[in-house]
Amino acid sequence: MDRIVITGGAPLNGTIPIFGAKNSALKLQAAALLSSEPLVLENMPDLADSRFMAQLLASLGVEIAWIKEARTLRMQAAEISSTIAPYDLVRKMRATFNVLGPLLARAGHATVSLPGGCAIGARPVDLHLKAFEAMGADIHIEQGYVKAAALRGLKGADIEFPFVSVGATEHTMLAAVLAHGDTVLRNVAREPEIVDLADCLNMMGARVEGAGTDEIRIQGVTSLAGGKHAVVADRIEAGTYAIAAGAAGGNVLLQGARFEHLGALIKVLREAGVEVDAESRGLRIKRDRTQRLQPVDFTTEPFPGFPTDLQAQAMALLCFADGESRIRETIFENRFMHAPELARLGAQIAVHGNEAVVTGVERLVGAPVMATDLRASVSLVVAGLAAEGETTVNRVYHLDRGFEGLEAKFRACGARIERQKEE
Ligand code: EPZ
Repeated sequence: MDRIVITGGAPLNGTIPIFGAKNSALKLQAAALLSSEPLVLENMPDLADSRFMAQLLASLGVEIAWIKEARTLRMQAAEISSTIAPYDLVRKMRATFNVLGPLLARAGHATVSLPGGCAIGARPVDLHLKAFEAMGADIHIEQGYVKAAALRGLKGADIEFPFVSVGATEHTMLAAVLAHGDTVLRNVAREPEIVDLADCLNMMGARVEGAGTDEIRIQGVTSLAGGKHAVVADRIEAGTYAIAAGAAGGNVLLQGARFEHLGALIKVLREAGVEVDAESRGLRIKRDRTQRLQPVDFTTEPFPGFPTDLQAQAMALLCFADGESRIRETIFENRFMHAPELARLGAQIAVHGNEAVVTGVERLVGAPVMATDLRASVSLVVAGLAAEGETTVNRVYHLDRGFEGLEAKFRACGARIERQKEE
């Protein structure tokens, strides 16, 4: 397995282009199943997860053409040749479960493997399935598979989610656009990725209103057309580079990053002593490393709150603060696995249930580390860039799931970071 070796201590200076959002692209890819015409996604991130989703779509009959130089993915589901998403394709990446709704809406039935839990938590899909039931689908679980049928089509419904779920909101939208009648979704997620999905679906001829608020109204249509859509900038990628520049010091322009998508992080960064300014081309991050960072408390919440996908990286930053920071994780039950790895670099972190208390230290010292999920891995890269000496991050395949060109982007800003290929 490849590993990443970092010699820490170099400040970051330069420009980092922010690519399309992984977590938006995956749902937009699933939307290709809704139309027999081509859906073209521009600003498409070239990531292990997006390639994996494309592989699943191809197995369902979607014709895929990836023009990598143009960062464009063309998908056409002229016909659905299979409505079965097997375990082997779903287990590797949970977002593949999102093909269930579009298949059900377009073909009237689908058999999709249950995704199972993952390192950060149990991550059930009960809200997704209840929403499809409310829309008239018959749902059975047999031998680890969800068998869903709505042979006369899905019906619009009034659905109130008991708590906010990004996945359930998106998945229900992907099905409701082709349902008979109107659907109202209440207490929905408001993430920028939801707005991006609604924009793409509307471009295809869907009638979705209210994305970005806590209530979405969808008027079902009988068919959708194709078209072109540019994937929204990845706020988690942008946030990660912002935090890295805050930890390592320097002056970085995050090209294409959107201020309005990162409000909660920007507040934490500013309180910690990192300068953040909106410029016409993106976000400017500045930090003078001779000044010690300040401790900050924060809690992860659905958008517009602090994103759970930036919690690990922000923890790495606060390891350097002059005092005690408290971090509460409220989205996933097991998302502090980076804490013991950060401790290998000398961080002082005490985890009690869903709260971590980070007592800042003056310096971290490089060490070999290992991570169990995507965002945890990149938090170790952030820590390694700001630590003294050499940090080796093992299990790099996690990073490749969500960060395209990570080493090259950091190296272009002066970081000493390289990938070692395992023979
Ligand atoms: C999405 O996951 C993202 N994944 C996650 O990013 C992100 O952390 C999360 O949203 C929160 O922002 C993708 O978009 C592919 P949820 P999702 O449904 O949709 C519980 C990354 O690193 N829940 O909002 O699965 C669930 O267990 C990943 O890129 C149910 O109980 O998140 C969690 O505790 C990690 N039943 C909470 O709700 C359900 O049916 C919120 O999950 C659905 C969710």
